[in-house]
Amino acid sequence: MKNTVGFIGWRGIVGSVLLQRMIEERNFSKINAVFFSTSQIGTVCPNISDVCTHNLRDAYNLKELQKMDIIVSCQGTEYTNTVYYKLRNTGWLGYWIDASSSLRMNDDAIIVLDPINYKYIEQSIQNGTKTFVGGNCTVSLMLMALGGLFCNNMVEYITFSTYQAASGAGSKHMIELLQQMGYLYNSVYHDLKNSKISILDIEKRISNISKNSEFPKQQFLAPLAGNILPWIDSLMPNMQTKEEWKVQSEANKILNCNSIIPMDGTCVRVSTFRCHSQSFIIKLKKHLSYFNIVDCIQQHNSWVNIIPNDFDSTINLLTPNAITGTLNIAVGRIRKLLSIGQKFLSVFTVGDQLLWGAAEPIRRMLMILNKK
Ligand code: HSE
Repeated sequence: MKNTVGFIGWRGIVGSVLLQRMIEERNFSKINAVFFSTSQIGTVCPNISDVCTHNLRDAYNLKELQKMDIIVSCQGTEYTNTVYYKLRNTGWLGYWIDASSSLRMNDDAIIVLDPINYKYIEQSIQNGTKTFVGGNCTVSLMLMALGGLFCNNMVEYITFSTYQAASGAGSKHMIELLQQMGYLYNSVYHDLKNSKISILDIEKRISNISKNSEFPKQQFLAPLAGNILPWIDSLMPNMQTKEEWKVQSEANKILNCNSIIPMDGTCVRVSTFRCHSQSFIIKLKKHLSYFNIVDCIQQHNSWVNIIPNDFDSTINLLTPNAITGTLNIAVGRIRKLLSIGQKFLSVFTVGDQLLWGAAEPIRRMLMILNKK
């Protein structure tokens, strides 16, 4: 008998990518899919008519939710906080898979990234765990890229700088980034054609325009086009942002090691659309040959794609442009920081924030549970 799986938040940006991936992988033929809505209850959904043959159910109706064997929520933290505990309190023993962060650090929840922690996931299912949560995007993308080093216990500590795309903040932010780009371009369009106007004058204009009160910045609260924002999420008591705090906390929870691997750095929003890039300085536990290190990273999983350390490969293959919309995890600029020491390694990586960074671990978790 097929599992009945309820989907909530499938119209949002992560939910849409999840649906798309499930259609590509023909996952819907293996489940009875039930679609819920928080706002359009009772309506039909022509845009997903292939997979949804019923009217949308009420995402706040606990009786309807209780009928599900598995619930997949991409609706966000507010929804999870409102519904999850109420539903559990009814005695519902189904599996809850969540893309939002609210349940991640709960003791009874596992953060899922099966190429890294499949055994731990399996064990937890055997032990009765019912709640599985996708990790923060930078965390999942880091672990996918450096899984070979982590899983072979080679890492003493890591520092990072991230280059995070607008998609991590949400679809409205992606739209605003484009609006900002258009606003800037349109305001100097004629000047660019006039060879008598110097680039310094044009730059000055651009700078002034981005400070205009009319400049579109309702979402980011600052210009992102032509700019970077070295702040993501709220302030933590230790002066990290929450995004920075998540890296060590979540990554170690996923790795489930005996001792904590220290990880710290700065998270930065940049004007790309849906790929997060990250630069790492890694201190290895012992001195290993360059070949050994690269081999270890490469062998860990089939999505890692090692990019040769040369100009052409780097600018064509180790970029958000090259990776967007794919499951590839580009790993390049791998080199030892010899002026610091033999055990210090520098690595740059790019991954799609919406695929391995969000929807894919959720999709795979659903399929793992569905096989049970
Ligand atoms: N918090 C991340 C970001 C996205 O803002 O880019 C999701 O994990």
